[in-house]
Amino acid sequence: MRLENEVFVLTGASGGMGRETVNRFLEEGAFVAALDLNVDSIEKTDRLLPIAVDLTKEEEVAKAFTEINDTFGRITGLVNIAGIAQPATPIEEVTLKEWEKIMSVNATAPFLTCREVTPYLKKQGEGVIINISSISMVRPRPGLNAYVASKGAVVSFSQALAIELAQYGIRVNVVNPGPADTNMLGQFSAKDADIEATKDTIFKKSVPLGKLVQPIDIANSLVYLCSKEAAIVTGSVLNVDGGRGI
Ligand SMILES: NC(=O)c1ccc[n+]([C@@H]2O[C@H](COP(=O)([O-])OP(=O)(O)OC[C@H]3O[C@@H](n4cnc5c(N)ncnc54)[C@H](O)[C@@H]3O)[C@@H](O)[C@H]2O)c1
Repeated sequence: MRLENEVFVLTGASGGMGRETVNRFLEEGAFVAALDLNVDSIEKTDRLLPIAVDLTKEEEVAKAFTEINDTFGRITGLVNIAGIAQPATPIEEVTLKEWEKIMSVNATAPFLTCREVTPYLKKQGEGVIINISSISMVRPRPGLNAYVASKGAVVSFSQALAIELAQYGIRVNVVNPGPADTNMLGQFSAKDADIEATKDTIFKKSVPLGKLVQPIDIANSLVYLCSKEAAIVTGSVLNVDGGRGI
């Protein structure tokens, strides 16, 4: 058991990577608060607390963390997995509303959850935060302008927190997934594109190892980074991407 009796908050828990991560963290002995817009498919147990929350809403986020602390008595870590895609769009056609929505979910929501969890982690003198960015912030793809910017913000913000919170024993790291086999992948295609064909011709082909990343690959990397095996790892960006970032 690599996360025995630790209390982790996982966002995006109903999504492709999130579901797998919830299961892996439970297998490793953690208590899990599973946050998403819709958590109807997640069954509440003694170890698993589903909470429906819009992570872009300050008051909802604050309320969720209070509920988690009231339920489990402490919070030892946070993994921000929630995010939204951007259909590939030429920059001159991106509306301010689209830009702000992507920044709000992908960059502002991690700010809100990180800010909220920090007092709990400081109180116990240790803790861990992992934020999911994307390999596309290292190797951008045409038309993903707002998405790539939002994920760049996640990395810079995480490294800023890593240096700020190191003195409190709090580690902050990033995982950069490559193209992953979840519903989200199809949502990066241009509005008029053949989604299945794009998955093969563009995404799979861009991975040197020749296959899409699976949600379990991401979940396993998160178990490692959240465990004591990574006790000396902070401020790092782990590419889990089949070599796409090379
Ligand atoms: N799938 C890929 O190819 C890929 C590649 C690189 C990075 N990523 C990143 O990995 C993470 C997980 O992606 P996934 O493939 O599992 O996607 P997914 O769409 O399956 O899951 C994302 C989850 O985030 C939730 N979410 C969105 N907005 C929210 C909000 N305002 N409040 C609460 N929850 C919200 C959704 O409801 C969904 O369940 C995302 O941050 C994504 O940007 C994905």
